[in-house]
Amino acid sequence: MSQKVAVVTGSSSGIGYETSLILARNGIHTYASMRKVEGGGSKQIIDIAKNENLPLQVIQLDVNNDKSVTEAINRITKEKDRIDIVVNNAGYDLMGALEETSIDAIKAQFETNFFGVVRVMQEVIPIMRKQREGIIVNITSLGGRISFPLNSPYHATKFALEGLSESIQYELEPFGIKIIVIEPGGVGSNFLKNLKMSTKMSDPVNSPYGSMQSSMSEYLKQWAQNTMHPSEVARVILQAVTSENHDFRYVVGKDAAMALESRRNMSDREYQNLIKKQFNL
Ligand SMILES: NC(=O)c1ccc[n+]([C@@H]2O[C@H](COP(=O)([O-])OP(=O)(O)OC[C@H]3O[C@@H](n4cnc5c(N)ncnc54)[C@H](OP(=O)(O)O)[C@@H]3O)[C@@H](O)[C@H]2O)c1
Repeated sequence: MSQKVAVVTGSSSGIGYETSLILARNGIHTYASMRKVEGGGSKQIIDIAKNENLPLQVIQLDVNNDKSVTEAINRITKEKDRIDIVVNNAGYDLMGALEETSIDAIKAQFETNFFGVVRVMQEVIPIMRKQREGIIVNITSLGGRISFPLNSPYHATKFALEGLSESIQYELEPFGIKIIVIEPGGVGSNFLKNLKMSTKMSDPVNSPYGSMQSSMSEYLKQWAQNTMHPSEVARVILQAVTSENHDFRYVVGKDAAMALESRRNMSDREYQNLIKKQFNL
């Protein structure tokens, strides 16, 4: 059997970086794709791949850009003639009260977290359909199932991705294409460093949402101390894509499992009260 071929978006850091490495370490020819191939993440992963003699190549792919996605996927199929696994991982978080967040910022959030995934899927589905097999892994989030204040555009993108993934699995199953959804809780990656804030979020004194923002800042400080290493998410992705009988959905992290369990056992009102207490609302 020929060697499996994978492509992972957003491999310059965090979950994408670790996923590219673990797939390659398990014998899957992996294209670690990233929008900036000159950066530190690129050099680091190339050095590791060289030292360990891994089947890993770095490739430029900006999920926001049609041409970049098409060129990357074309190059992979030209070199390998197939794509078995795609991990749609690239994404970031936009925070702020909806009222204080520009439409452009919200559109940009959707462009990466949602349309970026659609763009990659539309390129790879025809290839996988012709192969009559393939696995598409969409990294959503605990935030694709439940939501917190001051983060509505991010949640909207991840809820949207959950809905898209659920629907499309039926459409793709007859062609042998499988969809897997990964829902991590807090991960200690570059996620907080890469977080974008609405302009007014950085000016809490003059915002009607100021006190809510202070609670959120406190929450984020605590959150950052209780995150898991991105390699834990990567391990679950490897397990899912190599399983003969994988699940549709994988919740990763104790925090995510506990939050979803509480949500399941509470009414909407009870759950809202819990969140309000958590954020001093
Ligand atoms: N961290 C968490 O707590 C957490 C929890 C649940 C879900 N997630 C999800 O997990 C995924 C990975 O996040 P992470 O935690 O690993 O954060 P991260 O370390 O910030 O990694 C995000 C990756 O996405 C890339 N990216 C952003 N925009 C891109 C674009 N237009 N084209 C290609 N790549 C792009 C970044 O590249 P650059 O280096 O070029 O910016 C980076 O490689 C995201 O979808 C996130 O929503 C994260």
